[in-house]
Amino acid sequence: MQQTLEPLITSAWLAAWDKGDLDALDGLVAPGYTRTSKATGATVDLAGLKSEIAGVREAFPDLRTTVDDVVEGDGTVAVFWTSTGSHTNEYLGVPATGLTVQTRGSNILILENGKILTESVTWDGSELLAGLGIRPLRGIATPASEGEDFLELDPDLMKSFNRQFITGVTVVTTKEGDTPKGLAANSYCSVSLEPPLVLVCVQKTSSTYSALFSSSHLGINILGTEQLDTVKVFASKAPNKFAELNWHEGPNGSPLLDGSAASLEAEIQERFQAKTHTVFICRVRHAETSNTTPMVYKAGRFFDGAELAEL
Ligand SMILES: Cc1cc2nc3c(=O)[nH]c(=O)nc-3n(C[C@H](O)[C@H](O)[C@H](O)COP(=O)(O)O)c2cc1C
Repeated sequence: MQQTLEPLITSAWLAAWDKGDLDALDGLVAPGYTRTSKATGATVDLAGLKSEIAGVREAFPDLRTTVDDVVEGDGTVAVFWTSTGSHTNEYLGVPATGLTVQTRGSNILILENGKILTESVTWDGSELLAGLGIRPLRGIATPASEGEDFLELDPDLMKSFNRQFITGVTVVTTKEGDTPKGLAANSYCSVSLEPPLVLVCVQKTSSTYSALFSSSHLGINILGTEQLDTVKVFASKAPNKFAELNWHEGPNGSPLLDGSAASLEAEIQERFQAKTHTVFICRVRHAETSNTTPMVYKAGRFFDGAELAEL
């Protein structure tokens, strides 16, 4: 009778994924082993698999996997598994959220002489991020070189277009531990009233960026005409932007700037990765408004919102 592979697969799998004993996989695979992701079509060899496991374990150090089922056929094995871990360090360029995620997958193994020659996996690392509400915007990653027949728009034309768009100015805030952080942003947009959803786009180079991943909430302050100094500070890289300011906390701790035309605190629900920026979609949980006149921003200049002439 053919020997079952189940105990060997389960123990090597858990040793590698849960304990970081990557060499435990060596006895399991045949020479020329490859692993292909069904999601992306990407193929790696054993060294590539080991480095993928090491990357996941570094980002999710408390990773725990259960092998839920191993179904053995004629020269094939299907492995069904579940992993749970906390997002403690950066993963695929995404700063730590501190959130716990559970992910499931199944692998189809093709055997040669009782060892795994090829493996196809339903799962790839982006599913860990999707489980945390962090998704890539599909299509954005498509490079022109992949045969797509599209021309990239001239960036100067795009800038000229944006300069014709009039907005207010907000300061987006959060906390990193006990330290308030924030940046000037005019990418604020109301998405819907019911439910009350808003969005803001933040560049990955912002020093506030990583804090926005470890926070459950953020603050958005619409600046008033008296806050020209404030916008300048928050558009800078000053180390302590809150030093000269009066501010208070929203119910969930987000810094709300005194003297703003309006402030809100919102729970971050989705983080869409759009290359250089992340689009944060948030559900508003608290809002404060005042009679202060909002500041107006157009083409790099700030204007008094009270001086607008009605058409
Ligand atoms: C009017 C105005 C609007 C801005 N809008 C955005 C924005 O929507 N998203 C963004 O990431 N940066 C925006 N910026 C740039 C950031 O405020 C700026 O890069 C800032 O230095 C970031 O600070 P930080 O790195 O300390 O977070 C804007 C700047 C100004 C002056």
